[in-house]
Amino acid sequence: MNGLLKFITCGSVDDGKSTLIGHMLYDAKLLFTDQARALELDSRVGSREGKIDYSLLLDGLMAEREQGITIDAAYRYFTTEKRSFIVADTPGHEEYTRNMAVGASFADLAVILVDASQGILTQTRRHARICALMGIRHFVFAVNKMDLVRYEQGIYRKIEKEIKKLAVDLDLGHVHVIPVCATEGDNVTLKSSHMPWYEKETLLGYLETVDTAELEEEEGFVLPIQRVCRPNHTFRGFQGQIESGKIHTGDTVTALPSREKALVQSILVTDREAEEAGSGQAVTLTLDREIDVSRGCILVKDTDLIVSSMFTATILWMDDQKLTQGKNFLIKIGTRLIPASVMDIKYRMDINTGEHLAANHLYKNEIAVCDIAAADEMVYDTFQRHKGIGSFILIDRVTNMTSACGVVEHSLRRSENIVWQKLDITREIRAGRMGQKPLTLWFTGLSGSGKSALANELEKRLNIAGKYTMLLDGDNIRMGLNKNLGFEPEDRIENIRRIAEVARLMNDAGLIVLTAFISPFASDRQNAREIIGKENFIEIYVSTSLEECERRDVKGLYRKAREGKIPNFTGISSAYEVPERPEIVIDTSRQSLGESAELVLKALEKQM
Ligand code: ADX
Repeated sequence: MNGLLKFITCGSVDDGKSTLIGHMLYDAKLLFTDQARALELDSRVGSREGKIDYSLLLDGLMAEREQGITIDAAYRYFTTEKRSFIVADTPGHEEYTRNMAVGASFADLAVILVDASQGILTQTRRHARICALMGIRHFVFAVNKMDLVRYEQGIYRKIEKEIKKLAVDLDLGHVHVIPVCATEGDNVTLKSSHMPWYEKETLLGYLETVDTAELEEEEGFVLPIQRVCRPNHTFRGFQGQIESGKIHTGDTVTALPSREKALVQSILVTDREAEEAGSGQAVTLTLDREIDVSRGCILVKDTDLIVSSMFTATILWMDDQKLTQGKNFLIKIGTRLIPASVMDIKYRMDINTGEHLAANHLYKNEIAVCDIAAADEMVYDTFQRHKGIGSFILIDRVTNMTSACGVVEHSLRRSENIVWQKLDITREIRAGRMGQKPLTLWFTGLSGSGKSALANELEKRLNIAGKYTMLLDGDNIRMGLNKNLGFEPEDRIENIRRIAEVARLMNDAGLIVLTAFISPFASDRQNAREIIGKENFIEIYVSTSLEECERRDVKGLYRKAREGKIPNFTGISSAYEVPERPEIVIDTSRQSLGESAELVLKALEKQM
């Protein structure tokens, strides 16, 4: 019996995908008798003149039947004498690209349907491209509806030639082509008498025997560490699932990123001791000496991986909200989850033609090549060399939704060639001489809410109390350091990133920093908190209402914005995301400026 085969089926709306799978299940005698009977009865009223409509078998969802399309990824499990299968049936519509990507990420092989009467369509290219992006290296093109072209060999050969060309264009790996008729069952599970010119196996026959594992050998042993297990102080086990390769007791492994080496002392597979373990197994390893390994590290043997904080990747954008350059996410790569941002969208790919197009934003279902920078070093590899640790997802920091999935093309060398320089005079020494704890007091709120005035008032009081301070104010910084930035979302993201970096440097210098920027986006404030360090960051939300800010309209900007003279004005035509858990909230319309400053000082007492 061959191992489990996980495959995905892709086709356009009327390609007959559900019928094909339905037919396979039916012929393979996988149905309970009464289910088969129900199908027969059901299809009496169906569209195929009293014959069985196999697609009804796969209609898991009512809506699908009503609309005549498949609308979600549905997984089916079936077994023949030779093999077990899991198939993900995913919709062909463009707006369901995400479901297809999800289905493809789990599969070893893709069955792509082509309508013999239509040949290769742009959708066919799109499906093949997404499957390839998600790492599928085995493709079966089922040229369906051969009955509509009178089972003519000439037509099939022409399509077969087009498919071979597509396979080269998209670098698809292993490609197999089979002429079928899903409704009649030709070459689905039984050889067709209509196509004696086709001598190879049927679709099911091929799926039962194809070996997707043997060709997927990746270099060396790779074990991303999921957990360090220390039930007592004598035992220290490193747990994870082996991505590739084999390991024996006595082997030397290297831990990345530290590059320390150790010998494998014992291997536990579940709770049993083993001499060796291999790809796909969940193991606990113990080593012969103490080395620096924690969650997110990777143990390797006979291969090397990349350690860097930046790479170029191809991503599939899946969020309803568009992607803006610079936006901050959490990246999950290997077993590591850390902050990262999309620094640069290099180009977008036309999903149908592969053409490279300029892009500042990405919209749902678009594929693009981007540069990604993480907040810390990551251990990973290119997708081509190691699939498991060369792919990642980006998670939205506010909604926690998966916004994108992607694969690593290559590391950005500049990040590999920069090494942090250790300095002898540290922040602690500098701050110690000033006799204070460096902090960043991050004021956020609408324009005119009183951030600048309050920060100014507070700074005076801190100076009277003998503190060393610096105030960074929105309008002022925008006249100098950030002169080149406007108010588009990507500009604001970059504005806040730079301010956070500057505030951190000033904290390093020992200073207490006050910043007054609208900083309207929650993910940017979160990013600033991480750049500056949670222990030094105090978010002060100046909660003065929009009505009050507009009534004050100190700079006359709200009036202009209402007249449509200022685009992207916060609170009017651009969003302000209210902080969910600020350390301090203050409404400047409730009391005098001096009183507001005193309230903030009081709240800060403990941290100072
Ligand atoms: S932020 O959104 O990027 O944090 P920042 O605090 O630097 O904004 O700058 C805000 C100041 O710029 C406002 O106080 C206002 O004086 C001015 N400004 C000019 N255009 C806009 C705009 N479209 N939206 C908000 N503020 C604007």
